[in-house]
Amino acid sequence: MQKKATLSAITGLALAASGTALAADATKLKWDGVPKTELTLFYPGQTTQEWMKSAAHKAGATGVNEGKNCIACHEGEEADLGKNVLAKKALEPTPIAGKPGAIKLTVQAAYDKEYFYLKASWPTHLKEAGAFHNYKALKGGKWVTYGSNRTDKDVKAGTSKVSYEDRFNFMFGDNKGGVANFANQGCWVTCHNSMRDAPNEPTKDQVEAHPVLGKAGMKKSDIRKYLPETRTAIDDAGGWDKLKDKAALDALMAKGAFLDLWQARAYRSISVGKADDSHVFQYRNFDSGKKPFDANWDGEKKQPKFMFDPAKNGGRVALSEAQFRDPKAPKLDNTNSVPFDAAKVKDGDVLPGFILNTKTDGSADDLNASGNWANGVWTMYVWRKLDTKQKDDIALAPGQTYPMGFAVHDDNVTTRFHYVSLPLRLSLGKKDGHVNAIELK
Ligand code: HEC
Repeated sequence: MQKKATLSAITGLALAASGTALAADATKLKWDGVPKTELTLFYPGQTTQEWMKSAAHKAGATGVNEGKNCIACHEGEEADLGKNVLAKKALEPTPIAGKPGAIKLTVQAAYDKEYFYLKASWPTHLKEAGAFHNYKALKGGKWVTYGSNRTDKDVKAGTSKVSYEDRFNFMFGDNKGGVANFANQGCWVTCHNSMRDAPNEPTKDQVEAHPVLGKAGMKKSDIRKYLPETRTAIDDAGGWDKLKDKAALDALMAKGAFLDLWQARAYRSISVGKADDSHVFQYRNFDSGKKPFDANWDGEKKQPKFMFDPAKNGGRVALSEAQFRDPKAPKLDNTNSVPFDAAKVKDGDVLPGFILNTKTDGSADDLNASGNWANGVWTMYVWRKLDTKQKDDIALAPGQTYPMGFAVHDDNVTTRFHYVSLPLRLSLGKKDGHVNAIELK
């Protein structure tokens, strides 16, 4: 099935003036020689880890509770799983009209002495790229959502337009079983009842009142992925609020009990040559340092934080409605923006909901990404040093095999409305993975 192949030298390797090699550009590798793995990703709906262990999962629950790998029962069934989830109201109460149950994802992986490279492509549902994100607009003196994801309340009500970035996501664990059950249950160890868009989702007020996650601590207003290890208990309802104490969490993190999560985001990270580098632990945390994007929203004042610098935008501080999803429209970033000034905007002005950072740093800086959409297919590249030496990254090494999973957000969606893989393995220079990275010579 997979062809054995070697790669000749990397073409187009940039050289600095000193002669030191800069980070190789994954878009310029000779990918033709790298084996392709074609995977089926399916729509999971609300099938959380708690659902997997429940009687609703029928014979599956016994298997899962005995530590059986999902693949032992479901290999090759991905397309059916997606179709069945979409057909069952209990698993997906609000299906998106016309959404297919599964998509094909083609993946290639390679590495050299210093770097690890991933290339992924998928045919998109829409005949256009989901390369734009949220927009806000001033309407009748109030800043409102102008464009957002397909399941946003204003979009569903028909008062806002559809606009949301597509994403390629890669999550992996260490090769020592640092996160219990990740190898056999895959991404479901991160996906729980009591999370955003899952059953028993807590209200904003409940989250904000939590002493650690809420206003007095991490300042969260919703619950994202978390690992069971970080909770004192998880029952059928989930366990969002039952966080272990700080000493216990610090000890777990130091032991490496977390998952590395890379998200190549078509608007918010690829625009600045980066993927969003995160890790799943007690929350879906961004890695430390300056990340590729920040919200352009002041929640207290209910207005954007930044607008365009008129000196750099033809005298205009905002976009016009005609520039909504216009590939030629400028993207708001740290180099072309000034602090928002309510006196300078007028009704009908549109501003991006996020501001991009061209200067990332720290651990948030070490994931490079690029992407292009052509003829109905997204192709995304992500690459990073094998070992970044950062505490919130998992190092990769030749000759090793890692548990992992992929996900894709396609068609302007977020949260559970993505496609996911069953638990998979990635090998570097071996043959025991579903994706086997080959060494570049
Ligand atoms: C021991 C075998 C077994 C294991 C292990 C298992 N399942 Fe299942 N799974 C089943 C059975 C049986 C059904 C019910 C099929 C039906 O109702 O026709 C099912 C149903 C599902 C469904 C609902 C869609 C459908 O086709 O009914 C999903 C999604 C699913 N499994 C995902 C998983 C995932 C993810 C894992 C690993 C965390 C997993 N399963 C582990 C046997 C298993």
